[in-house]
Amino acid sequence: MNLIETKNLNFKYPDKTSALKEINFSVREGEFVAIMGANGSGKTTLLKALVGLIHPAEGEIFINKEKITKNNLEKIRKEIGFVFQDPNDQLFAPTVAEDIAFGPLNMKLPEDEIKKRVSEAMEIMEISHLASKTIHGLSYGQMKKVSLAGVLAMQPKVLLLDEPTASLDPMGASKLMKLFKKLNQKLKVTMVMATHDVDLIPLYADQLYILRKGEIAASGPLREVFSDTQIIRESKLRLPRIAHMIEILRKENKVFAKELPLTIGQARKEIIKTLVGQPSRLSKDKIMEDRRDACPTKNKGF
Ligand SMILES: Nc1ncnc2c1ncn2[C@@H]1O[C@H](COP(=O)(O)OP(=O)(O)OP(=O)(O)O)[C@@H](O)[C@H]1O
Ligand SMILES: [Mg+2]
Repeated sequence: MNLIETKNLNFKYPDKTSALKEINFSVREGEFVAIMGANGSGKTTLLKALVGLIHPAEGEIFINKEKITKNNLEKIRKEIGFVFQDPNDQLFAPTVAEDIAFGPLNMKLPEDEIKKRVSEAMEIMEISHLASKTIHGLSYGQMKKVSLAGVLAMQPKVLLLDEPTASLDPMGASKLMKLFKKLNQKLKVTMVMATHDVDLIPLYADQLYILRKGEIAASGPLREVFSDTQIIRESKLRLPRIAHMIEILRKENKVFAKELPLTIGQARKEIIKTLVGQPSRLSKDKIMEDRRDACPTKNKGF
């Protein structure tokens, strides 16, 4: 079932910038969807439209088959967690713990439950030591983690994330992506993520939308979309580094199979096949599960 669906969405900013053009975007329940595209391609605008922060003049948005209108906006927003690209747009309470508590407080949860959720969210984001720190005394990456903790504390069914890993340190970014995958697989949280992180996203997302100048340039299963390297490059994206290396090997050295591997696990399989001259003894499942990158650690707290 489509949890989120837009029909012919068009949006112009007051200065007449046409930021969304005929957007037909859909997300099924439980999916992990990535939105990629150059700076200014419309990613943030699309996410903001989905939570009713901006109101497209043309087109329709359905959440759970219910059309968003001014009347049901508040109700619909309760199910969706939105994490802003810039944490300065999200954070406003004096201290970290107070900011994270704001959402659960607003949901009128019992005091004990609020405390529990705040401390769990801080633990997950590894910011417990910052609990009493003022928001203005945080680094930018720490602010991003606080704004994510605030949304996680509300335990939404859908998470809309606007470049959540941008400005996090590499290990922090890897850990966060693993956490999102866990939320997606174990707690069935539907994930929609705008991102430029071409190296990490093939490890996690199922579906991919590419935006270009406010239009959908390509969409579909992630591996399928990435196989059109021309569209990727025309959209000012790039292949994951490992895929680029295999692409060069294919072209220059006439090695490796038809389908371009996007992850280290997939590339490893192809390399072993070529070197040994026989299919890798690693099972397909094992390879698909091979979500390794620079971060070998496990997420705590879940
Ligand atoms: N408040 C605004 N007023 C006028 N134009 C805007 C406003 N916000 C965004 N735009 C324009 O709308 C278009 C889409 O911007 P948007 O922020 O959605 O892009 P984006 O894909 O999120 O980019 P980035 O990767 O830089 O975050 C751009 O051309 C941008 O200049
Ligand atoms: Mg943006």
